[in-house]
Amino acid sequence: MAIDAESPHAAAALELRRVVKSFGAVVALRSGSLTLRRGSIHALIGENGAGKSTLVKIVAGLYRRDGGDFLLEGETVDFTSTAQSKAAGIAVIYQEPTLFPDLSVTENIFMGRQPTSRVGRIDRRAMRQEAAAIFERLGVNVDPDRVTEGLSIADQQIIEIAKAISLDARVLIMDEPTAALSGVEVERLFAVARSLRDEGRALLFISHRFDEVFELCDTVTVMRDGSYVDTTAIADTTVDELVRQMVGRDVTELFPKLPAEIGDVVLEVTGLTRPGVFRDVSFQLRAGEIVGLAGLVGAGRSEVARAIFGVDPYESGSVTLHGSALPKGSPQKATERGIALVPEDRRKQGLVLDDGVSRNITLAIRGKLARWGLLWNARENAAAKVWASRLEVKTAALDTEAGTLSGGNQQKVVLGKWLATEPTVLIVDEPTRGIDVGTKSEVHRLLSELAQQGLAILMISSELPEVLGMADRVLVMREGRLTGEFDRAEATPEAIMFAATADAEAVA
Ligand SMILES: Nc1ncnc2c1ncn2[C@@H]1O[C@H](COP(=O)(O)OP(=O)(O)OP(=O)(O)O)[C@@H](O)[C@H]1O
Ligand SMILES: [Mg+2]
Repeated sequence: MAIDAESPHAAAALELRRVVKSFGAVVALRSGSLTLRRGSIHALIGENGAGKSTLVKIVAGLYRRDGGDFLLEGETVDFTSTAQSKAAGIAVIYQEPTLFPDLSVTENIFMGRQPTSRVGRIDRRAMRQEAAAIFERLGVNVDPDRVTEGLSIADQQIIEIAKAISLDARVLIMDEPTAALSGVEVERLFAVARSLRDEGRALLFISHRFDEVFELCDTVTVMRDGSYVDTTAIADTTVDELVRQMVGRDVTELFPKLPAEIGDVVLEVTGLTRPGVFRDVSFQLRAGEIVGLAGLVGAGRSEVARAIFGVDPYESGSVTLHGSALPKGSPQKATERGIALVPEDRRKQGLVLDDGVSRNITLAIRGKLARWGLLWNARENAAAKVWASRLEVKTAALDTEAGTLSGGNQQKVVLGKWLATEPTVLIVDEPTRGIDVGTKSEVHRLLSELAQQGLAILMISSELPEVLGMADRVLVMREGRLTGEFDRAEATPEAIMFAATADAEAVA
């Protein structure tokens, strides 16, 4: 059922004009404006904390605006609940899918509005058939009867999209949908987005990745400090121009790596094995060295990092730190002996959302600070201040609840928490995911400087330019095994991609 194509004079599918939203003293939106048209994929970009997610939450009915206009198909609306937004044909896909894990895929798609048969019973067969038909149209292979628990993030997002289609949503909003996806999954999501656009729906796509914005979108709106900056056709702009509009100055996305003196081996991993997850992983990490760990999502990189740090088990093999064995399964021992792990899933693993920013930053150094007795509070604030400012955490105050920070700023807080422990070995899992372009080069500069001071860094990253730009040496994993090792000079995108994807026979 194609929706009428847009005539230049028709009302926009959705329009926000000078929308204002404050939380207490924090002004999240000063003047947010956005016009979405049918048959278009529109990008919304801006620094961490610029107000993108707040704008989306107003459209979704989660927040009510304090001022400004919100029109759908030319009519003013004012949602007081998410149900109203859904009923008006708006579907929002958040970075973290919000499905019910115990229910089947079909039940999730029809949650809260099961079709009933003539005798008033829930018509399971009709639901199942409709779900299967939607998946076929999307060209994806998901079993409508399986429970949702255990599905990959990518499949969960596809189910959220199926839900949007079954609701016949006219406006589909995706807030950083690709942050947890691998290349193939991103391509599948994009193909689905394009077919929805071709049916005449209006799509909004939020991302910090310019390559994706340029590949997928036709129009882009830039926000800065809660305000609208500009809207342009993608064909008429460039990455440099967009960055200037976002940040208000020139930035290079990648900070050039500083030369560092490479010292002794500090971490040695030998034959690390956890059946079915990773096998026979061996490598060394030296002081001052940045080693990149590349590979596809699901190759087992995060699992190896978690096993080294002690949050996950391993069956055989060993981890040696500064020449002596590191006991298995004790993150506390690992921390005491100088390892820090900045996890991939920061919201779940790294933050106490209702604690303040400074408490979060000092969470892992409590023991040390406690020795200062009554001076604790002052020490805590001093330590937190240093890292909050080095990482440019955008927060109203240091005691602001971490859960109210923007997504990217929450990530910076977790990074700060581990850097505050002054580790000798730092393992960072996707250090700049969800972090905006300006801060990204700051994070790179910081890692580079820390390596220069002798820190040994293992950096897991799915972004090739980041790996190539930062690493002295690159390790590649595929399906739980190390399949490649390259010096900085020999590391090319082709070599890394080959090791990450080639057939087992070809590499063995
Ligand atoms: N519930 C809330 N309470 C207090 N402040 C909030 C709340 N939600 C958002 N904010 C503040 O509003 C500002 C904008 O946040 P928002 O989440 O919209 O940013 P964003 O552009 O989505 O950033 P990111 O790229 O990091 O996701 C931030 O300063 C944030 O701390
Ligand atoms: Mg956001």
